[in-house]
Amino acid sequence: MCGITGYIGYREAYPIVINGLKRLEYRGYDSAGIMMYDGEEMHLSKTKGKVSDLEIITDRDEKRKRGTIGIGHTRWATHGIPNDINSHPHFSNSGELVVVHNGIIENYDTIKKELVKRGYIFKSDTDTEVLVNLIQEVKKKEGCKLGKAVQLALTQVVGAYAIAVFDKTKPNELVVARLGSPIAIGVGKENKEFFVASDASPFIEYTKDAIYLEDEELAIIKVGKGIKVRKIMDDSMVDTNVQQLKMNLEQIEKGGYDHFMLKEIHEQPKAITDTYRGRILANEGIIKMSSIDDNLPRFLNADRIIIVACGTSWHAGLVGEYLFEDLARIPVEVEYASEFRYRNPIITTKDIVIAISQSGETADTLAAIKLAKSKGAFVYGVCNVVGSSIARETHSGAYTHAGPEIGVASTKAFTTQITVLSLIALKLGREKGVLSKPAFQKYLQTLQLIPKQVEKLLEIDDQVKYIASVYKDATNCLYLGRGFNFPVALEGALKLKEISYIHAEGYPAAEMKHGPIALIDENMPIFVIATNKGHYEKVVSNIQEIKSRAGKIIAIVTEGDTQVKEIADHVIEIPETEEAFTPLLTTIPFQLLSYHIAVMLDKNVDQPRNLAKSVTVE
Ligand code: G6P
Repeated sequence: MCGITGYIGYREAYPIVINGLKRLEYRGYDSAGIMMYDGEEMHLSKTKGKVSDLEIITDRDEKRKRGTIGIGHTRWATHGIPNDINSHPHFSNSGELVVVHNGIIENYDTIKKELVKRGYIFKSDTDTEVLVNLIQEVKKKEGCKLGKAVQLALTQVVGAYAIAVFDKTKPNELVVARLGSPIAIGVGKENKEFFVASDASPFIEYTKDAIYLEDEELAIIKVGKGIKVRKIMDDSMVDTNVQQLKMNLEQIEKGGYDHFMLKEIHEQPKAITDTYRGRILANEGIIKMSSIDDNLPRFLNADRIIIVACGTSWHAGLVGEYLFEDLARIPVEVEYASEFRYRNPIITTKDIVIAISQSGETADTLAAIKLAKSKGAFVYGVCNVVGSSIARETHSGAYTHAGPEIGVASTKAFTTQITVLSLIALKLGREKGVLSKPAFQKYLQTLQLIPKQVEKLLEIDDQVKYIASVYKDATNCLYLGRGFNFPVALEGALKLKEISYIHAEGYPAAEMKHGPIALIDENMPIFVIATNKGHYEKVVSNIQEIKSRAGKIIAIVTEGDTQVKEIADHVIEIPETEEAFTPLLTTIPFQLLSYHIAVMLDKNVDQPRNLAKSVTVE
């Protein structure tokens, strides 16, 4: 996730901004940049890589560090690969305005075409350079001040943003705004200095007075005068609410959560929205994914899809199998990348290989891609990290836009991978005529309800915590699910193993009879997904079988369920949705459960023993 930091006041801005960028490193990024204003000139330094790489550039020339005004940025690429040119800050064509931006401007292409017609020239591939030039154009056309120009420009923008804008013709002010991405303003004594940042960590040692902008708010910050906040859309003034920060640095980085994993679990409503943002065009009732559109005949004529991945991404791939087969009627095989690469797999040029990877760096997945390419297959990547090795090695692909995932146990990466796979399956299903227009529309509408439903589901935290307290001392657990929810059972078991070190196994519910049933006794907790669609009655029978062997049942059911409630020891309700989307909901209680058990057992939740976030060796 990108990070913004800035300073305007009387101190040397460089150390504040550069240290601020280091504080934001935990958010994950691929490039960094800084603009320093020395009273006459704006000096821009930016590079692909780390903040330490940026410092090598600024160290070469003291001019790059001079001044009491600076804005900096760590970029997590969305539009355009990570490189020096795409890094922020970005100047407007006039060279007067400079901007740093977090988020995605969905309609940047339309705006860009309009600006190109008016003679604007673009150096980068970013949506941000479009935005800064739009602000310049509005400022010129309307003859207005910076604050008004930013406000008017933002009314034309669709998407999400947190921005900081500086105009060298008005060097005592900064304009910041937000919609969907956070921005905080640190207020110095007597309005002599101000700080801006994605969170308060870059300025915590300078001031404890902070204003957090709400969505659709814009702040004009003037040194010596103060801050004025307005609503972007209706231009009404907003009373500024200065908060006293009580958190320490570490708490701020984790967004107030105790662990990154918990933060990431709670980020899922936003992450899922970000995944389909700009891809579901609700008004037109279509899914737009250029990576699929550009290769449509290939997808429509594919003999089969082979999904390769590792770990949690492999589980997302298994959900993908059900999605592609059910919604688009395309045969699918799902392979562990590590097995696939050492078999002698039969691959033809009519196969499509989909490689799924959060990090985009997993060595086995990368090797599987190279093998598939060598055999002539078309390889499509589903990655979270933009510009990662897998994203570069594949022929085409879609990013999940989940933002950086720091906790080793993958959570939001899983649900966003499933979201991307759902979009592709729905799109292909419609293109192939498998899904009628009304059926497709219904799926689209239902998918867009998921973020709110996840949000609601996260409110069951206390209930899950209680269940965790009852079963935290178990030594073995079983997770059962069928159909779309069989992979969720595997993922639930994996989450528990990874962070609490309790042995757990995931099984297709019916397969229980062929082995695991022998393990069941009164000490064995069994987590069963029994949502109302998808073989409900069969799963109820499985639950009866467990009950008659004294197993403890914790069931995930659909709201309003009565049958399972009578048999199970505990039930957790999920909202109603299409069967195909239930994994996006049923997985949430399992994530919370593993988290709470690990915390109760005093385990290292974010960095479990022996595990790595990114496995770049075989
Ligand atoms: C490691 C991580 C897992 C992840 C797996 C695949 O084992 O700890 O969380 O699921 O690698 O990683 P990838 O980045 O390819 O999704």
